[in-house]
Parts: sequence; structure tokens; C-alpha cells
Amino acid sequence: MINLDKFPQLSLAHLPTPFEAWPKLGAELGLSNLYAKRDDCTGFAGGGNKSRKLEFLIGEAVAQGADTLLTVGATQSNHCRQSVAAARKAGLDPHIVLVHQVPIEEPSYCNGGNVLLDHLLDATIYGVDTPGKAPEFIAQLLGEMKEAGRKVCFMPPGGSTPIGCLGYVNCAMEIKAQAEAMDVALDHVVLANSSAGTHAGLLAGFAALGLSTKVHGINVYNSDAAKTEEETQQLTNQTLELIGHSGAEFSVDVHGDYLGDGYGIPTAGCLEALQMVAQTEAVFLDPVYTGKAMAGLIAMAKAGSFGEGESVTFLHTGGFPGLLAYSDVLEFG
Ligand SMILES: Cc1ncc(COP(=O)(O)O)c(C=O)c1O
Repeated sequence: MINLDKFPQLSLAHLPTPFEAWPKLGAELGLSNLYAKRDDCTGFAGGGNKSRKLEFLIGEAVAQGADTLLTVGATQSNHCRQSVAAARKAGLDPHIVLVHQVPIEEPSYCNGGNVLLDHLLDATIYGVDTPGKAPEFIAQLLGEMKEAGRKVCFMPPGGSTPIGCLGYVNCAMEIKAQAEAMDVALDHVVLANSSAGTHAGLLAGFAALGLSTKVHGINVYNSDAAKTEEETQQLTNQTLELIGHSGAEFSVDVHGDYLGDGYGIPTAGCLEALQMVAQTEAVFLDPVYTGKAMAGLIAMAKAGSFGEGESVTFLHTGGFPGLLAYSDVLEFG
């Protein structure tokens, strides 16, 4: 039994998101039971996984009396776009630090996609060109804001705190109910892991529900996947503690082979995944997160990593505005 009612929440997302079969892609991959949980359809301000986290994060910020939101991400951060939108809904003044950490200088990347939407939402945007300087910049900015009398809610990258993870505990509950209604077993779930919160929240939710579903997190951020694994482990434990299920058993599984040259740099497998999913299921993935996660799923299917007849569920975490930001970058053969 999980009770999330005691945590302050702001309703943002259109829930439940669909849980659907992907038979055409499944047939191509030799998977007879392939499904997708469509969190690209959370609906709020362009959709994606951050809507769920923000329901709890902004709920908490409002409960604490915040009047300003400050958060940070890469230039094409979906997290920043959705955070700014959530701040607008809650009446907080949105400020974001966009760190130019992906070596792409094309106009579509620097000004399009999420950046266009950040401007449309009228966020105060601070650009930092050297990633190593971001922590110092943020500390100074926070100090100035507090000195000016603002009540600031600072959200770390990806909104990956135990409170943010509650959004994916909620998603685990949703998936369980939908799978039961459709008579689908939950053997494997595959998702992108960047700042670990989505993976940790889902894992904590499944563990607290007593499900032994194997959750495969595809590392899309850290050059050292062991760091992602460690962060996921810690955050899962903290989330379980928060929901009163400290002893629940779970196992963290992070795959490090699909990052390629680095965060935000598309790989050949990612391009193949984008095209396969668009051309079979008519669903768009993005080149930073979900494309690499699907490249991992495809490689695992080809390697026979999933057992005969086992179900595989892809958690589609969104990122559509980010796809459009790569219009000057991506070339499809
Ligand atoms: C579209 C998309 N998918 C997946 C993720 C990864 O989520 P997390 O940071 O919780 O690991 C993000 C994070 O920014 C995202 O924007």
C-alpha cells in the first residue's frame, strides 16, 4: 500500500498516460510482447517525464511559501522548459541557468526547440558557457536572490530529489493497474537514465508494490555509468524511506554501452531507433534521451537478452521539443 496523498501536489499532467502495445516494432525485433508507457503524453507544456516530478516538486515549493523558482540544465533541457511552465502555473517567478555543455553550435540547437519555449514562457535565462563554472554561478545567483528578499525554491538538475521521484512512484502504481487490466505481465521495463530520478522513482514504486519487474536504465549522461548506478541506488533508498517502505528489495541495473561520445551527442544506434519507432509505431523519440534508451532496447532484443515471450515495456519519457532542436544536426540516410 502506497499513500502519496500526504505530500503536497499541484495537478499538472494528464494522467493516466496510455499503456499500449507496439506490435509492429515488436515484430521487427522478435518481441512478441512489446509495450510502451506513453509519458511523452503527460500533456503539460509539451509533455514528458518532468511533469510528474513537478507535480510534487512545485507542490512542495508552494507549500513552503516560495515565490521564485531557480533550476539548471543543458541548453536543450526538457526539465527547464517544464519547470518554467510549472512555475508559471503556480505563480512563481521562473529563472533558469542553461549550461552549454553539448558541443553543438547550430542555430536550431542554440535557439530552437526547448529554448524557443523557454522564451515563450518568458523565463529569466542565464547562459553559462563553461560547465565547470555552473556551481559557482548558481551559488552566487542564489545568494543575490535571497539578499533581494526572494523566497527561492532551487531545484537540482532533472528535479531528481526524493520528492521529485514520487512522480515515478505514482507512475509505477499506474503501470501496475494498467498492466493488470490488460492482463500483461511486467517482466522488463526499459527507460533513459540521466539524473536518475525517473529510474529511482519507478524502482522504488515497483519495490514498494512487491513487483520484481527488471528495470533497465540506459545511461545517457555520465561518462562513467557506475556513477549513475550509485546515484540511482541512493535515490531509490531515499525514496523508499520517504514513502515508508525502507526495507523493500530492489536491484539497480544501469547499462553504460549506449551513451556514445557523450550526453546530447546522437549515436548511430540512436538514429536507427528514431527511424524504426517513427516508421513502425508512428511515435517520435528524441536524440538525447529516448532515442538512446530505445537503441539499448533494440540491442538487447537482438542479443536475445529478453526471455522468450517475456514482456518488455518501453517508458517513453518525452523530449519532442528537443528533437526539433536537432533539425540542423540530424541526417537520416
Ligand atoms: C525526455 C527525457 N527523458 C528522460 C530523461 C531522464 O530522466 P532523469 O533525469 O530522471 O533520469 C529526461 C531528463 O531530462 C528527459 O528530458
